[in-house]
Amino acid sequence: MTGRLTGKVAVVTGASRGIGRAIALRLAADGAKVVVHYNKAEKEARDVVAAIRAGGGEAIAIAGDLAEPDTPELLAEKIVAAARADLDAPALDILVNNAGVGLRATIEEIGDTGFEEVLRIDLVAPFRLIKALAPRLNDGGRIINISSMGTRAAFADMVAYAPAKAGLEALTRALAVHFGPRSITVNAVAPGATATDLNPGARDPIRAQAVATSIALGRVGQPDDIAAVVSFLASDDGRWVTGQTIDASGGQRL
Ligand SMILES: NC(=O)c1ccc[n+]([C@@H]2O[C@H](COP(=O)([O-])OP(=O)(O)OC[C@H]3O[C@@H](n4cnc5c(N)ncnc54)[C@H](OP(=O)(O)O)[C@@H]3O)[C@@H](O)[C@H]2O)c1
Repeated sequence: MTGRLTGKVAVVTGASRGIGRAIALRLAADGAKVVVHYNKAEKEARDVVAAIRAGGGEAIAIAGDLAEPDTPELLAEKIVAAARADLDAPALDILVNNAGVGLRATIEEIGDTGFEEVLRIDLVAPFRLIKALAPRLNDGGRIINISSMGTRAAFADMVAYAPAKAGLEALTRALAVHFGPRSITVNAVAPGATATDLNPGARDPIRAQAVATSIALGRVGQPDDIAAVVSFLASDDGRWVTGQTIDASGGQRL
C-alpha cells in the first residue's frame, strides 16, 4: 500500500472506537503502519486491526488503562517492543494522543475524584506518554493531541474536561518549541460535537439537529471529519504547522 504516510509508523491511543478508530483507519489508508491502542474494547480494537490488514496495511493492537498510575510508561515500553517485533519498526513517527473521557458534570455534581480522573486520562496520560515515547520518535515526526472546542466556548458541565483539554493545548505549544530543533511538529486538533459513544447527543438524530443550529456548516461532525485533519498534520504537507490548535468543529459556536 502506498500513500502519503508510506514508511511511517503511527501510534493512536483510544483507537478501538469513535474518532481514534477513524484516525487509525485513515492513517493506515495513507500507508502508515499503525499501533491501535485500546482500554476495554478488545474486540473492537481487533476489528480495527483486521480492517487495516484486509486493506493491505499493517497494524497491531495493544491494551492499557490510562487511568492506572503506571500505565503510560508501561504502555510506551509495550508499544516500542511490539512495533519492533511485529511491525519491523525500530522507531516511531507519529503519536496521536486521542484516548479520552468526556465526563459532563457541573461544579456541584463533580467531586475531587472525578475531577482528578478526567485530568489523569485527558492531560497527565498524554504528558507521560509523550515523555516516554519522545526518545523513540524519529526526527521529523509528529505529535498530535486531540483536544476539544470546549476550550474555546464555555459549557457549564465541562468543569473538568475543558481545563484538562486547555492544559493539553498549553502543553502542545510548550512542546512545539522544545521539539522544534528535531523538526518534530506538535499540534492539537479540537473537534466540536462529533457522533461517537462519548457524545450520544451528536448521535441522536433529534438532538444532533438541535446542536447543528450552533454549527456554521449545519451538521454535527463525523469521526472521519476529524481523521482528515489529523492525516494532514501527520503528512509532509503539515510540516510547517506547529504549536497550533486546529479547530475541527464545522464552525461550532463561532
Ligand atoms: N465526540 C465528541 O464530540 C468529541 C468532541 C471534542 C473532543 N473529543 C475528543 O476526541 C477524543 C476521542 O473521543 P471519542 O468521541 O472518539 O470517544 P469514544 O468513542 O468514547 O472513544 C474513546 C476512546 O478512548 C479510550 N479510552 C477511554 N478511557 C480510557 C482509559 N482509561 N484508558 C485508555 N483508553 C481509554 C477508549 O478505549 P476503549 O474503547 O477500549 O474503552 C476509546 O478507544 C477524546 O479525546 C475526546 O475528548 C470528542
